[in-house]
Amino acid sequence: MKYLLDKNLCVAYKKIVLFLQKKDKSCKMKRITSLEHQYISEVLDNEFRTSKKSIFNQRLEHAFVEKFNIGYAIAHNNGTCTMHTALAALGVGAGDEVIVPALTMGSPTLAVLHNNSVPVFADISPDTFTLDAASVRRCITPRTKAILSVSLYGLPPDYDALLDVCHEHNLYLIEDNAQCFSGKYKGKLVGSFGQFASYSFQGSKHLTSGEGGMLITCDALLAQKARQFCGLGFNGLTATGSTLQRETLQQPDFDRHITLGYNFKMSELCAAVALAQVERADELVEQKKTVAKLFHEVVKDCDFLVPQAQPEGYENVYWTYAMMLKTEHSKTDWQRFRALFLKNGGDSFYAAWKLTYNEPFFQNVVQQDPRVWQQYQKNLCPKAEFVQPRLIQLKTNYWDLAEAEQQAEILYKTSREFQ
Ligand SMILES: Cc1ncc(COP(=O)(O)O)c(C=O)c1O
Repeated sequence: MKYLLDKNLCVAYKKIVLFLQKKDKSCKMKRITSLEHQYISEVLDNEFRTSKKSIFNQRLEHAFVEKFNIGYAIAHNNGTCTMHTALAALGVGAGDEVIVPALTMGSPTLAVLHNNSVPVFADISPDTFTLDAASVRRCITPRTKAILSVSLYGLPPDYDALLDVCHEHNLYLIEDNAQCFSGKYKGKLVGSFGQFASYSFQGSKHLTSGEGGMLITCDALLAQKARQFCGLGFNGLTATGSTLQRETLQQPDFDRHITLGYNFKMSELCAAVALAQVERADELVEQKKTVAKLFHEVVKDCDFLVPQAQPEGYENVYWTYAMMLKTEHSKTDWQRFRALFLKNGGDSFYAAWKLTYNEPFFQNVVQQDPRVWQQYQKNLCPKAEFVQPRLIQLKTNYWDLAEAEQQAEILYKTSREFQ
């Protein structure tokens, strides 16, 4: 323990020490290991030869199919275009409405706009910060086609309630699990509640290849449509890959494109790294959960720091450790808390994203569409408006537990001084 608070160690601090002592494993791990390097070398040694094409893409997709015990996985170059593909494959079209949470990173809304559909913003639960089914219900119109739910900060939304809405109104559900690799809802791995589930391998995520995404589904027809959409609309693409023989492809009268498609395919270099990360997923996810527990020991008895609630049966995998600063003057206090935390040696933390509909860019885009613009009344989603400016997102990407432990101590010191 390099960073000591005072002689009389507080209860929370003692708990951290006990917790770490019980974890008599090595405190340090590597985010990128020799396995990732080995797989990258294999790609380079193959010199991207087309005869060996897509070895790592196929292996990565297969690893997802096994992990999620699901029919199909389609690799993409990020976790935004995955959602565009999902919407297109489901036949959600121009002008159709898709319900998205007001509080999340902008990608779900962007994907809806990329698909020429209309994003409709629903409010969140103020405890879990995830999509609230009652608010979703109020957003439904005859044009609503789908709900794009987000497992925010690593916590799944209430799928039972969302699926009830879907069944009642004949809507599709797409799960955005970019922040939630291997979280659970009522004992079940998230990823198979919706028609599609989307994952991201961007740098801050549980598993990373720098950039990258994955779409999974149990429906063969949807998988085929998705693969064609993200694969330039090529002829011969099936749910599991290409079936065409080279001989057919090489003919002068071969019809290559059978539908309008985008090139959203993942590169072999990314697939190589992502495969190694999937093979190491348990240790990578466990590390983030361990870091979150350290912060939780400090926060759980503090009356002005309120962590994201974790209802019974939900398993949060803590993309970040999210908590709300609940004081009388939270907005100014947020700056004061941050300044104090930084002064004490804390790592800089992010606020939550502005609510998507409050971003000037999105307002300008939707101004051109009177139907969307109508919804942009002030205080459209009051719970999200309350929560967003008060949120603190502590990073959980510490691969050396000693560093995380030091941050937990700084958090404790800051919370004492702040009071
Ligand atoms: C909730 C959420 N959805 C989607 C994305 C988009 O993923 P990508 O950056 O891979 O496009 C991210 C993060 O980047 C995210 O946090």
